[in-house]
Amino acid sequence: MSAPRTITLDNITVYIEANDTDVGKRAADVFCTTLTQAPNAAYGFATGSTPVCLYKELIARYKAGLLDMSGITAFNLDEYYPITKENDQSYDYFMSTELFNHVNVKPENRDIPSGEAPDPEAECLRYEKAIRTQEDFKLQILGIGENGHIGFNEPASTFPAKTNYVELTESTIAANARFFESAADVPKHALTMGVGTIMMAEQVLLIATGPKKSRIVYESLLGSIDPQVSASALQMHRNVTVVLDTDAAHDLLANLDSVS
Ligand code: PGA
Repeated sequence: MSAPRTITLDNITVYIEANDTDVGKRAADVFCTTLTQAPNAAYGFATGSTPVCLYKELIARYKAGLLDMSGITAFNLDEYYPITKENDQSYDYFMSTELFNHVNVKPENRDIPSGEAPDPEAECLRYEKAIRTQEDFKLQILGIGENGHIGFNEPASTFPAKTNYVELTESTIAANARFFESAADVPKHALTMGVGTIMMAEQVLLIATGPKKSRIVYESLLGSIDPQVSASALQMHRNVTVVLDTDAAHDLLANLDSVS
């Protein structure tokens, strides 16, 4: 299969790129186009290994004088609970080291659910309100879990509407254990934007790479809309861009090619 390739599925534009570097460049193009149009808006960031290629490219463009993030308000999808900000596995730490220490987002304009809050439910309410009072929540960056989660919205019977305190599934703990000394060290809970919170963003930019994401990308974009796969809610969003590498696009393309 040749890359790059672009597919349009109703509200969703899918870019397929040859490799991680090109995924990062394409995702950065999408992000920067919106940033240029809305330099003072709110943007939602994501953690995990997938968006690192995007952050590398944003840092390179910032260093080249091509990017100004000084006007934005930065939110983050989720955070483990409990966890300290200094823990090198916290998402607060990740965002600092992988992006914010290298670009000009103002520290006072960064917000992330706090893994140190004494009351997780109260922290969810605070965070949801902070996002909902933004006049212009422009774009949310997303990765996707192998179980279809966006943020830490694990398979459920309904789509969570708001920022919520969740128990992580065994499959997510196993998938994230690679970053910790052992699976036993992975926090069992997290604070996450709800699917409803994510859907408030005017634009969603979902990135997926590698063969392990191929099946769930296909199910999320072309399967039934089902809270067992929280990413499937994006089929109902008005403006979604998906950037995939050829491995993550495999099942999607196989199914599209078989019906066309
Ligand atoms: P990953 O995580 O980018 O590390 O694969 C994605 C996710 O779980 O949302």
